[in-house]
Amino acid sequence: MTSHEKEFYVNVPNASRVNSRTALITGASSGIGEAFAEVFAAHGFDLVITARREDRLRAVAARLEERYRIRVLVCVADHARQDTAERLSTELAARGLTIDALVNNAGYGVPGTFVASPWQRHQDMLQVMVVGLAELTHRLLPGMIDRGYGRIINVASLAGLVPAPAGHTLYAAAKALVIKFSEALANEVRKHNIHVTAVCPGFTISEFHDVTGTREQMKNLPPWMWLDSPTVARQGFEAVMAGTPIYINGRVNRSIALLVRYVPERVVKAIGRRFGRSYRKA
Ligand SMILES: NC(=O)c1ccc[n+]([C@@H]2O[C@H](COP(=O)([O-])OP(=O)(O)OC[C@H]3O[C@@H](n4cnc5c(N)ncnc54)[C@H](OP(=O)(O)O)[C@@H]3O)[C@@H](O)[C@H]2O)c1
Repeated sequence: MTSHEKEFYVNVPNASRVNSRTALITGASSGIGEAFAEVFAAHGFDLVITARREDRLRAVAARLEERYRIRVLVCVADHARQDTAERLSTELAARGLTIDALVNNAGYGVPGTFVASPWQRHQDMLQVMVVGLAELTHRLLPGMIDRGYGRIINVASLAGLVPAPAGHTLYAAAKALVIKFSEALANEVRKHNIHVTAVCPGFTISEFHDVTGTREQMKNLPPWMWLDSPTVARQGFEAVMAGTPIYINGRVNRSIALLVRYVPERVVKAIGRRFGRSYRKA
């Protein structure tokens, strides 16, 4: 076993398939992903959860197994690696595990201006949030089509729907791609009883702003702009079950998205540039 293999597959129980559906959730060690794990567990799904922090994943698994009497498979995985989607799907197939619901959630922002970070950092982010997301979906979708059931949630962002301010330069672009990808895929696979939803939260309480180093700036935002991760996950679950292709969490965020569509572009862009300085590091 190589060191990568050791890192990748720990605590994979040698389990036969139980008589329920299984959801795979990426980035389930904190925030919105952890909340999605809880929502799917509460609805009786067994889980496969991934992220890099093994201790956190194990704690999530232990809590949810105990609370909901479901089975949780922990896969420590770095989604910035180009071979992660392939290795993950190969391992699942080898164990006879089928995935009925996929939540592509792992993600983060690279703070600062575009040239301030080395290219590798941007590439890793695109691998986690765009390429890896699309590849994992591509690998798991045929099984869903064969079985005539699938639920796919791609965690995008309101940032993908509104004008992009300076800083975190590729983040909004990546999320815009995820939204369009989800919309097209939803149209392609609806006939197979597969629902695809791009869930678009705005500011959400999680570890996101600690990771991007913007926690201090975030203190300038009013409390009514914030959502909590369990609410985002519960709404996302309901949206995918209902077959909604693009779901924007929260009335405030839905109003912002509407404003962007109907207020003249130059006004929206000016507001976006000004407001962006309060939450983007550039
Ligand atoms: N919070 C917000 O305001 C907000 C708003 C809109 C959209 N979103 C989106 O929501 C999603 C979840 O973010 P969050 O707010 O819940 O932030 P978070 O608490 O920081 O969670 C991010 C998750 O992604 C995982 N992750 C990051 N890089 C990874 C990698 N290379 N390989 C594997 N897993 C990785 C992290 O796990 P490890 O560190 O253990 O690997 C963690 O579980 C992201 O896609 C984010 O863009 C967040």
